[in-house]
Amino acid sequence: MSESIGIAHFSGTGNTRLVSGLLAEALRDRGAEVEELAIEDVLNLRGHWDTTGYKRIGIGWPVHAFDAPRIVYEFLHRLPPGEGKPVFTFRSAGDPFWNGGPTEPTRRALAQRGYRVFREDLFVMPPNVLIACPNTVARQLYLKAEQRVEAIASAILADADAERDAITNSPLFRRVVARIFAKSESLGARLAGRWWHVTADCTLCNRCVDECPPGNIFRDLNRLTFGWDCLLCMRCVYLCPEQAIKPPLWLSFMVLKEGYDPASILDDANDSADDQVPIPSSFGYRDRLLRYLNEPDFSLTDTVGGSLVDKGERDP
Ligand SMILES: Cc1cc2nc3c(=O)[nH]c(=O)nc-3n(C[C@H](O)[C@H](O)[C@H](O)COP(=O)(O)O)c2cc1C
Repeated sequence: MSESIGIAHFSGTGNTRLVSGLLAEALRDRGAEVEELAIEDVLNLRGHWDTTGYKRIGIGWPVHAFDAPRIVYEFLHRLPPGEGKPVFTFRSAGDPFWNGGPTEPTRRALAQRGYRVFREDLFVMPPNVLIACPNTVARQLYLKAEQRVEAIASAILADADAERDAITNSPLFRRVVARIFAKSESLGARLAGRWWHVTADCTLCNRCVDECPPGNIFRDLNRLTFGWDCLLCMRCVYLCPEQAIKPPLWLSFMVLKEGYDPASILDDANDSADDQVPIPSSFGYRDRLLRYLNEPDFSLTDTVGGSLVDKGERDP
């Protein structure tokens, strides 16, 4: 009988959704029945995700300041009791630095609801903030994800009962630093969101209002206003057809001037324009990226520190 798997993901600008789709497809190719859903859809319906029918579930998110965005925790806290159901998680990050950050907090949130994480995977994708990755390299990252999901899907179907869980414990120092970053980012996102503004180019098409994951953009007669729930996911900024949504000045360094749209990156017709653009080398980004791309079998142990843990040794 085919195995039923549910995958829920949050994706601000499309990278995680893409990885989720690739994983779902690879699992279906191996005979599993897979249902995919967006975390914001569950939360916006004020409901919870009924996980009872699934043998395993997958949960995916983009890394924000070494952690999962706030909306993912809201979702995890609302999961129905898991009664030990096995979970695999996957996250997309713009940089393999620190392996996308410690995963103990998400693991703990899942454990509190009765779920057991048996596998965690990091996918490096083009950053949607700070560093503009040349299209040609971005396409290689997508291809790498396409290749990696094949082995990961086989492992997901085989791994849940294996002796070793494919998860890592992070060094204490990293956990503390990541916690400080994540807390500041979450608060910073709320504050920043309040100060986004819309220029006169806005045509009031309402796309941002309709698509903002936490429903933080409001139409007030002939203008848009922002509430306190921003996740800094960047969706509104990059989907605005008029590029009329602007951050407060102190955050403008984050936004990619050329925008971010995975669909146009995947269209190789756009490659030639930036064939010659080098990968930015700041803070070792280029070296880490090349290592990720060149490793035939990228696994958690290949990145900075971290070691696979045996069942029983895991934390939590
Ligand atoms: C507010 C914010 C914080 C981010 N922080 C990190 C980070 O700490 N480490 C990292 O590697 N990438 C970081 N990124 C980049 C994203 O994780 C990455 O581009 C991801 O693939 C985006 O996925 P999405 O398109 O599904 O939203 C951050 C992005 C945003 C918007």
